[in-house]
Formats: sequence, C-alpha cells, structure tokens
Amino acid sequence: MEFVFHNPTRVFFGSGKIGVLGTELQKRGAKKVLLIAGGGSIRNNGVYDQVVESLKEAGINWIEAWGVQANPTLEKVREIIALAHREQVDSVLAVGGGSVIDSGKAVAAGFYMEDIWKAVTDEERIKAALPVYTVLTLSATGSEMNSFAVITNSETTHKAGLGSPLLYPVFTIIDPSVQASLPFRQTVSGALDATAHILEYYFTEENAIATNAINTALLKTIMEMTDRLQENAADMVARSNLAWCATLALNGISGVGHQGGDWACHTIEHAFSALKPQIAHGEGLGVIFPAWIEYMNQKMPGRFLGWAKDVWDEDNVCRALHKFREKISAWGAPTSLRDLGLQAEDLPVLLEMITASGTLGGFSKLESADIEALLMLAY
Ligand code: NZQ
Ligand code: ZN
Repeated sequence: MEFVFHNPTRVFFGSGKIGVLGTELQKRGAKKVLLIAGGGSIRNNGVYDQVVESLKEAGINWIEAWGVQANPTLEKVREIIALAHREQVDSVLAVGGGSVIDSGKAVAAGFYMEDIWKAVTDEERIKAALPVYTVLTLSATGSEMNSFAVITNSETTHKAGLGSPLLYPVFTIIDPSVQASLPFRQTVSGALDATAHILEYYFTEENAIATNAINTALLKTIMEMTDRLQENAADMVARSNLAWCATLALNGISGVGHQGGDWACHTIEHAFSALKPQIAHGEGLGVIFPAWIEYMNQKMPGRFLGWAKDVWDEDNVCRALHKFREKISAWGAPTSLRDLGLQAEDLPVLLEMITASGTLGGFSKLESADIEALLMLAY
C-alpha cells in the first residue's frame, strides 16, 4: 500500500474552548472576518454570544451572514460571496454544523473564482481561498477537519462536492457541550453519517489492517456513545467521544490505505437530499447503507464477514445486517425510502439523477441496473 497522509487543521477540543477564538484569530492576522451561520440554533444555545464575546475581547471586526439551510445551496453561497466582496473580509468563520462549514469553504474558494460551481463540475481548479476557521456545533460530517464541501444547485437539483487542500480549516473549535442542545434526531443523523464515512472505506482494501482496527473501534464507539446519549442527552463523556469519533471518521485517518474508498452510498444519498432537502444526510445514509451491504454481499460473499465478526460479533453477514438495521430503528431513524418521505414516483427521477455521472463506487462499481435494484431494496 502507498499513501500520503497530511492534515494541517489545528483542533481546540473541550468545554469552554470557544474562548480561544479571538486570540487565535488575532495571532493569524485576521482583521475582518465573515461569520457564517445557519437558521438560528447558535443564538438559542449560547454559542453566538460566546463567539461575539471572544471576537470583541480580541478586537476583531466581523460581519454576519445568516440563513444557511441544512443541505446548503449554491444560491446562498453566491449571495454570501457577493457580501464578502462588498465588505472586503479577510477570512471566513463558519459557526455551525456541516452545512454552515461547507458553505463557508465554498465562499472561501468562490471569493477568488468567477463561479464556485465550476469547482464542482471540474471546469475550474481552486487556486486560492480565504482562510477558513470553524466553530463546530454538530458532529457528523467531519467537515471541521477535512478539505471537502458539498453544496446543492437547486436549479438543476444537483448536489455534489468540491475539494482542495486550501480548504482545510486553519483551526477548528470543538466544544462538545454545545451539542447538548441537539434534538436526538440530529445526534443520530450525525452518528449515522460518521458510521457511513467509515463504511465507505471499510470494505475497499483487505490489507488495510491497522486502519480497519481503528475503524472497528470507531464504529463500536459511535454506537455505544449514541446509545448512551439516547438514555441521557446530558452525558458529556458520551457526547465528547462521539464528537471525536465523527471527526476521525472523515479527517483522513479512516481512509489510510483504502485507495479512496467507495462512496456509492454517498452519491446515492446526495440525490435523496437534493430532491428533498428536508432529508437529513445521515438519515438517508442509514437507509441506503444497509441495503448496499445486503446487495453487495450477494455479489461478493465473504467480503463482509470481517465487519460482521468484528463489529457485530456474528459469523453471518445477514445476522449482522439485521442487528445494524435494528440499531438504526431503535434510535428512531428511518429504515426505508418510504420512511424518508420518498414515493414510488420519485424512484425513476432518483435513478436518473444518480446515474448522470456514470458508474458509481470506487469498489462496488454499480451500473444503472444495480442502482435500480438497490433503490427497490431500500424502498
Ligand atoms: O441551521 P441551524 O439553526 O444552525 O440548525 C441546524 C440544522 O437545522 C441544527 N443544529 C446544528 N447544531 C446544533 C443544531 N441544533 C441544535 N443545537 C446545535 N448545537 O442541525 C440541523 C442540521 O445541520 P447541518 O449542518 O445541516 O447538519 P450536518 O452537520 O449533518 O451537515 C449536513 C451537510 O453536510 C454535507 C451533507 O451532505 C449535508 O449537506 N456533508 C459534508 C461533508 C464534508 N464537508 O466533508 C461530508 C458528508 O458526507 C456530507 O455530504
Ligand atoms: Zn456523509
């Protein structure tokens, strides 16, 4: 196996860490930052007040862009880029979950481009970006410590990613205590997203033994911590460990030696949440991933046995899969496309959206007929 591992993001982790924000920005020469936020959760849980206090203490100027929606849109990103130009900001400060951070990254790169969508369609390479700083309020995507962003072009219902080494956040503040305000539904969605990030790599390369030993531990810890949070939302040990697992699930560590992973399930899910933006990304993955394992297990029997044994203590993939589905259901998350609010008439539309870019999956190599079968299995 050959790989390059590099992750430059500095993480400040722990309760009260938002207090370091102002001085850390000051150290890096920030003078006027663009604070990007979502629909208002940070006003309700005190995060906004902590951020503003820290900025004021350090004498940092800022302007604010609110209203990034879950499953963020290209249109909003364009609007914020225009604001960033008008106000001549020197850095981006994203305060929120993955949607806010992804929008922040797209704004940071789009600031120097004719049109940020060209980075998604590969028509233009990202050559410069404003520095990105983040305060994470929802552990799920790993965006706080990776170089990717996912946005939706609502006009074409196309949701896809962009990435550049320039988009690693310079630093990220993760204070797990601010996640106590999350509805359990969002905690679960985050746990399922982190689980899916690990599974996208898990089956690709059988010789990535060290990486998968870490991944097995992450999968089990995510489950255990989510169970604990279902019992007691104020369990800060569980909240902190779940937060760190979610960061490790997509900051490069979980993919070492896995040749880029598979990502078919992510491409499929992105079509669900592009078509119906009220679908939480993690919930969509909680539906499609078990179906994908079931489908792929028929094609490649044997490949999923290690997962069954190491994660579920089962020597039979069907029984492991049953336990996986039961866990998702016990957390109250959707287990079918119908549960997600998708109808039979949506299936051909989804199929067209998903197959628009050809064969899917670095390892599973799904053709149109496979995807159709998979959607039926998940329906
Ligand atoms: O908008 P606000 O008011 O902030 O409310 C949010 C939102 O409604 C709320 N929330 C966040 N922190 C909270 C809170 N509510 C109470 N207390 C808190 N502490 O949670 C809701 C969902 O937020 P969102 O940011 O949409 O969730 P998530 O972090 O799951 O991000 C999902 C987006 O990230 C993309 C997904 O496709 C989706 O668009 N992804 C990004 C990736 C990346 N950059 O690497 C990889 C992922 O695979 C994924 O595709
Ligand atoms: Zn994901």
